[in-house]
Amino acid sequence: MSKSKSSESVKVVVRCRPMNEKEKAANFGRVVSVDVKLGQVAVKNPRGTAHEHPKVFTFDSVYDSNSKQVDLYDETFRPLVDSVLLGFNGTIFAYGQTGTGKTYTMEGVRNDPERRGVIPNSFEHIFTHISRSQNQQYLVRASYLEIYQEEIRDLLSKDQARRLELKERPDTGVYVKDLSSFVTKSVKEIEHVMNVGNQNRSVGSTNMNEHSSRSHAIFVITIECSELGLDGENHIRVGKLNLVDLAGSERQAKTGAQGERLKEATKINLSLSALGNVISALVDGKSTHIPYRDSKLTRLLQDSLGGNARTVMVANIGPASYNVEETLTTLRYSNRAKNIKNKPRVNEDPKDALLREFQEEIARLKEQLEKRSGKRSQSKGRKRRPGESGDELAEGDEDGEEEGDGDEQAGEMRRRMRIIGGSSRKSWRRRGRPSWRITAWWQRRN
Ligand SMILES: Nc1ncnc2c1ncn2[C@@H]1O[C@H](COP(=O)(O)OP(=O)(O)OP(=O)(O)O)[C@@H](O)[C@H]1O
Ligand SMILES: [Mg+2]
Repeated sequence: MSKSKSSESVKVVVRCRPMNEKEKAANFGRVVSVDVKLGQVAVKNPRGTAHEHPKVFTFDSVYDSNSKQVDLYDETFRPLVDSVLLGFNGTIFAYGQTGTGKTYTMEGVRNDPERRGVIPNSFEHIFTHISRSQNQQYLVRASYLEIYQEEIRDLLSKDQARRLELKERPDTGVYVKDLSSFVTKSVKEIEHVMNVGNQNRSVGSTNMNEHSSRSHAIFVITIECSELGLDGENHIRVGKLNLVDLAGSERQAKTGAQGERLKEATKINLSLSALGNVISALVDGKSTHIPYRDSKLTRLLQDSLGGNARTVMVANIGPASYNVEETLTTLRYSNRAKNIKNKPRVNEDPKDALLREFQEEIARLKEQLEKRSGKRSQSKGRKRRPGESGDELAEGDEDGEEEGDGDEQAGEMRRRMRIIGGSSRKSWRRRGRPSWRITAWWQRRN
């Protein structure tokens, strides 16, 4: 079923953002120095003596305030996305104090190729890989959810008031029931999915960040790849990429959060401390119980922390003396996370591969069409030529288009499957057949 692989550690990188205007105006000292070559971050105590040694932490890689989005992608994230294309699960998550650059790292500035973050860069990477592939067939789906005040919202759903439940299955683990997913065939389409979801995301202004994420957001890309094996059978590998932009930890005294903002902050801090507890329990070597169930966030990240996934954690920090305690807390947490062991494996031929269902559906339709054209040529006493228009519609054809030759029609369907994509699996189930003719709802909305 799946190829097992030995365990590997969570990869942790640190990124320090530049001083912001407020920090410069307030003349805060710089307490963080980054040694890119050694992979070290040193933090000095702003109230310490000149002889006091800074605290030094070593990571897989560290990035200073001049770091370029594309360098982070190429060095740190590209290999993980490559392994998702091979059928591994992968998770990238940004962790850190409010205002330190988590959203900048994950999403960045969308319309600026130099400043766009991991999520848009991964779109480009995935679809370039697919366009160059020769003997594989791919199906890419995207979902987008947020955990807002401990409730799960589907950012792609028309009904934003609806809350979703977490469920668990022995074969696939924890999942979100009824989460919509959209088949996307190009960078443009998947970007559209992200943009629609972002419009629904909970963002608010605080004293620490004008556009502060008030929820944890997870953009999920599922990539199915079908390929002919040496045994002559088609095999499907499925990799799931979780791109996680966490809300930041914050202190009320600094953010000035009140009312709804304060309520949000309390929940954010609670789930982040649940995440911290899970990390501690995983690495302390004594815990027999890992408290994944203490928050929705930790349940959703269960496979990414100690399970079947490759994981990269980006710890975002700021350079100013004003935030030294939060910076040290982030570095200690992330330093611990380096010791988490995961057991990633290629997910091969899972029962619920959508691509398999599409292939079977096409084979069924093809057979049906062949039977029909066989009957027709008998009754008309001649064989139809390829491309010659037919006389009736295929069963259930909603659009009323004319049919061609059976093979050609099946080929056309296969092409549509690749090119048009479908809608959510749920709507397919409801209709009892693939829905590649359905125009995605966001296209209708625009
Ligand atoms: N590496 C960087 N280079 C330039 N600007 C940055 C960098 N990192 C962050 N910024 C800027 O700092 C501000 C805060 O960043 P961002 O919104 O990404 O923080 P965050 O960690 O997501 O905060 P929150 O937890 O409140 O959501 C933004 O204006 C962003 O553009
Ligand atoms: Mg943010």
